[in-house]
Amino acid sequence: MQTQDMPKIRIRSDIAAMEGYGYPSGTLELLSERMGRPASEIIKLDTNENPFGPSPRALEALGKMESTAHIYPDVRVPYLRAGLAEYMGVDPEHILVGQGCDEIIKVTEQLFLEPGDIILNCPPTFTMYSLVAGWLGAKTVNIPRRADFSLDVEAIEKAAYETGAKLLFICSPNNPDGSLTPPDVLERLLKLPLVAVLDEAYFEFAGVENNALRVPDTPNLIVIRTFSKWAGLAGLRIGYGIYPLEIIEHLWKIKLPFNVSAAADVAARATLTDMPTMQANIEKIIAERERFMAELKTIPYIHVYPSAANFVFCKIATVPIPDLQTRLENEGILIRYYEGKVPGHVRISIGRPDQNDKLLDVLRQIGKEFHA
Ligand SMILES: Cc1ncc(COP(=O)(O)O)c(C=O)c1O
Repeated sequence: MQTQDMPKIRIRSDIAAMEGYGYPSGTLELLSERMGRPASEIIKLDTNENPFGPSPRALEALGKMESTAHIYPDVRVPYLRAGLAEYMGVDPEHILVGQGCDEIIKVTEQLFLEPGDIILNCPPTFTMYSLVAGWLGAKTVNIPRRADFSLDVEAIEKAAYETGAKLLFICSPNNPDGSLTPPDVLERLLKLPLVAVLDEAYFEFAGVENNALRVPDTPNLIVIRTFSKWAGLAGLRIGYGIYPLEIIEHLWKIKLPFNVSAAADVAARATLTDMPTMQANIEKIIAERERFMAELKTIPYIHVYPSAANFVFCKIATVPIPDLQTRLENEGILIRYYEGKVPGHVRISIGRPDQNDKLLDVLRQIGKEFHA
């Protein structure tokens, strides 16, 4: 081939130089192959899924899709939005549904950010906010959380005025530590000349006031949530955002038309009709969180932080993290490691009581092995 005939493949240089999401998560099927043990023996506590699974009604609805699976879903998923409106007490016109909260984050940033624009991010926190900003050529200004993971409000205020940032991401309960942003702090941040995106992916476990109710009267507040955690539908990819009307009208123009699959739509709608079952599972997870934390506190080499979510964040002293990881994986247990981000820390999703007990046993055993 002559040089002039060579195809020109011009990937954006900033994307070519970028690192991707990078976390090697996987289905139980893949993990079973990778770990060489049956899926039923894997204790997966690394990505904050719901250990009790979906609502039986959602599974039943999925099994009855013979007359709908070959038809495109509706662009505006009106029945699901009506169900969500009732669930949250907010009019459906304020609600946009997406392929997980991840897509909601992406489409929200696409609406605001041009190359060179700035978002304010408060690490350690969910990585997607800064990752998406990078995809769009926008810049992330990090304002690290304090040692107790609370927001450094003064530093955020200063950065907001100095940088002219368009968006501020607040994750509450925060992933990975589970801390909440108190109402007075949110109040202060809403006075800034930017739009605050409040990520409440773990709202249902937190027992806090419903900030979604504030959105219609707060022009610079967006609240985003998901069915992946409380509703046990992580595999179906369904999340949503609650937006002021002046913002959502533009989102309709840029979201992919058929972003919510028919399967996700029916499963989510069925889940919303089964709230007593789901609420009982949420309460079981909260009770397990409290029990699990109390047990962890009796293990000398582990320091556990307070959490309002379905996971706990722990500082590991004495036992080297690679040894901890190897020992747990040998027992079929996966948790999340934060080397490179918050060294010496791990995040553990709350599992079923039997799974948590097994993990506690292994953690105690490891302590003995390392005299920790
Ligand atoms: C804080 C936070 N926001 C958003 C998401 C994304 O959720 P989804 O599964 O709906 O994309 C997660 C997932 O772990 C999360 O932890």
